[in-house]
Amino acid sequence: MKLCVIPGDGIGREVIPCAVAVLKRVLPDLDFVEAEAGWDCFQRTGTALPEATLDAIRACGTALFGAVSSPAYKVEGYRSPIVHLRQALDLYANLRPTRTLWSAAARLGGRPQAVDLILVRENTQGLYSGRERMQGEEAIAERVITRAASERIGRVAFELARTRERKTVTIVHKANILPITDGLFRDSVRAVGQAYPEVAVNEMLVDTAAMMLASRPAQFDVIVTTNLFGDILSDVASVWGGGIGVAPSLNLGSQVAIAEPVHGSAPDIAGKGIANPSGAILSAALLARHYWNLPEVADRIERAVYAALESGTQTPDLGGQATTQALLAEVLRRL
Ligand code: NAI
Ligand code: MG
Repeated sequence: MKLCVIPGDGIGREVIPCAVAVLKRVLPDLDFVEAEAGWDCFQRTGTALPEATLDAIRACGTALFGAVSSPAYKVEGYRSPIVHLRQALDLYANLRPTRTLWSAAARLGGRPQAVDLILVRENTQGLYSGRERMQGEEAIAERVITRAASERIGRVAFELARTRERKTVTIVHKANILPITDGLFRDSVRAVGQAYPEVAVNEMLVDTAAMMLASRPAQFDVIVTTNLFGDILSDVASVWGGGIGVAPSLNLGSQVAIAEPVHGSAPDIAGKGIANPSGAILSAALLARHYWNLPEVADRIERAVYAALESGTQTPDLGGQATTQALLAEVLRRL
């Protein structure tokens, strides 16, 4: 087994080595190939995603991607490499689980809820279709939905749900305002669900879903939704699990999988040695569970991370004082 490692920019370079250290401990035979992408790479080489990086990912079949900095304005020739990768490698599903981190949820006030949900985000189209342009005085972004892509993401959601205890899929959309695009998404996912009589299906409008994720998150099992909604809702959900420093994700395609913490390059804390490595480490666990089919390895990693965090070894984003290295050491000790 081979893994292409792409630390990227900012704290990507601090958290990805932690995930690699954990993988070396639990999978001693795994080979690593390092590759580059991101803003630094763009400034040095003129491309944010070198062809050699794409080749390395294809050759390995899997990658661990840190985070990259993308300017929030148009830079000629620059394109976010992770969005590019999702489209170029047809990584059509983005799995984003959230589980309650009790010590973090307690600080949110009220009574903490037992959240154990997984958000399944369509990863290649929707409002991130890449079709954005000026047309005279109008700035236009095209929100593309196809039946094929909706059915494909629907199958991922139902396949996951059937393996879970509550076996429930919630389709999140905005078909009241977007009846053509989100109507197609909703109906296509529902049609896929007919083949899974053991799985319960319900649906919810996206604004209600945001409110419910903030107030009554325990009701959700598997959520399936379009690209932009999934991006935003997964950050809302992540708060129950300790926030985006803890949130993991896995980009899944038919051939390749890329594990990636949900967070960005965090320029405000980069270089200080205090980034939370949990999201990166838990992303590696997702690779083990959903791509390498090693659920016991994934369980081991997840148990070690949650035990380390719940025991009080926490980085400043969680209210603690631990450094990145101290939290890594605690996770390794528990492995
Ligand atoms: P961000 O996720 O980098 O940071 C948001 C806040 O969360 C910051 O206060 C940061 O310090 C904190 N944070 C994030 N990850 C953390 C961790 N592991 N440990 C402790 N604290 C953490 O999002 P922001 O600031 O909106 O974007 C910064 C840059 O990252 C931008 O250039 C953006 O384009 C890029 N970005 C890249 C992503 C990717 O590569 N997949 C995803 C999101 C943003
Ligand atoms: Mg995001």
